[in-house]
Amino acid sequence: MRILGIETSCDETGIAIYDDEQGLLSHELYSQVKLHADYGGVVPELASRDHVRKVVPLIQKAMADANTTAQDLDGIAFTQGPGLVGALLVGSSVGRSLAYAWGIPAVGVHHMEGHLLAPMLEDSVPEFPFVALLVSGGHSMLVKVEGIGEYEVLGESIDDAAGEAFDKTAKLLGLDYPGGPLLAKLAEQGEAGHYKFPRPMTDRPGLDFSFSGLKTFAANTIRDADDDPQTHANIAYAFEEAVVDTLMIKCRRALKQTGMKRLVIAGGVSANKRLRASMEQMMEGLKGEVFYPSLAFCTDNGAMIAYAGMQRLKAGQTTELSASAKPRWPLDSLPGVN
Ligand code: KG4
Ligand code: ZN
Repeated sequence: MRILGIETSCDETGIAIYDDEQGLLSHELYSQVKLHADYGGVVPELASRDHVRKVVPLIQKAMADANTTAQDLDGIAFTQGPGLVGALLVGSSVGRSLAYAWGIPAVGVHHMEGHLLAPMLEDSVPEFPFVALLVSGGHSMLVKVEGIGEYEVLGESIDDAAGEAFDKTAKLLGLDYPGGPLLAKLAEQGEAGHYKFPRPMTDRPGLDFSFSGLKTFAANTIRDADDDPQTHANIAYAFEEAVVDTLMIKCRRALKQTGMKRLVIAGGVSANKRLRASMEQMMEGLKGEVFYPSLAFCTDNGAMIAYAGMQRLKAGQTTELSASAKPRWPLDSLPGVN
């Protein structure tokens, strides 16, 4: 089975061709980062327009790179939600139109299911069941995963997502949008022990997160601190340490609660080196295993959408051509595949 995947939920146009026998045949990514940088965040209207411009040429390129014609494709997977509605409508419209024109099925994919299954694109894949920590710019959640579509959300952020906290704190430090990776880079120059950020919601039971307080704490710390590069690096270090520590505490709790030994981390923030290293160390101590996607597939991409869509198409699930985008779409409302 060979699937074309289309991702347009936010500020990245991602296109990929995935084949169940040969694996990933091609993937194209166009990031709109430069377009939104001047505004300090994603401008939805501009995002939609840019997807319209890029999506078809990228599909042509991905098809050519994979030496694939329409006749070789068995289906089209597009991100149906959650995300920015105008951006989602681009992928939904193009995906369904091509499916209609080419006489093949289309399937709408849940963006966070895409992230959750992204580690399956690697050589060493996690077996079910596992606990998944999904940390992106729009969502932070802990999910008990028994199989594809068998998801129980154990906890989620009650305010800002982890990536959003990174981006907002980075902005306070004067870094460009999206600041997450830049803040992580700055933190590498930081020294331990100068600042201590809180670990929100770790002193009470439960698996929900709250990250908005960290941004306020960062704002106050920056206001009261010297305005020199080393101080900023020390603040970035302490902020990152607090986010990583908080995520580790919650993951440990979720693993204990479910009795599981396998942890998957995915979504943009799973690209964070310190988070990966800390989780590796923690899982070694717990005699368990941790899985994450390679760097290119932590942030938004078409490959994860093609992969997730393929699993659903194999189970005979398709999305009717009249279905609309779903800007809000609970992950645990998805059907299983058996
Ligand atoms: O999954 P993603 O590409 O988009 C959403 O679905 O939201 O995640 C993007 C988020 C951004 O907030 C970005 O700053 C963050 O992931 N991010 C990072 C790193 N790389 C990306 N945060 C911390 N450290 C990184 N290395
Ligand atoms: Zn994402």
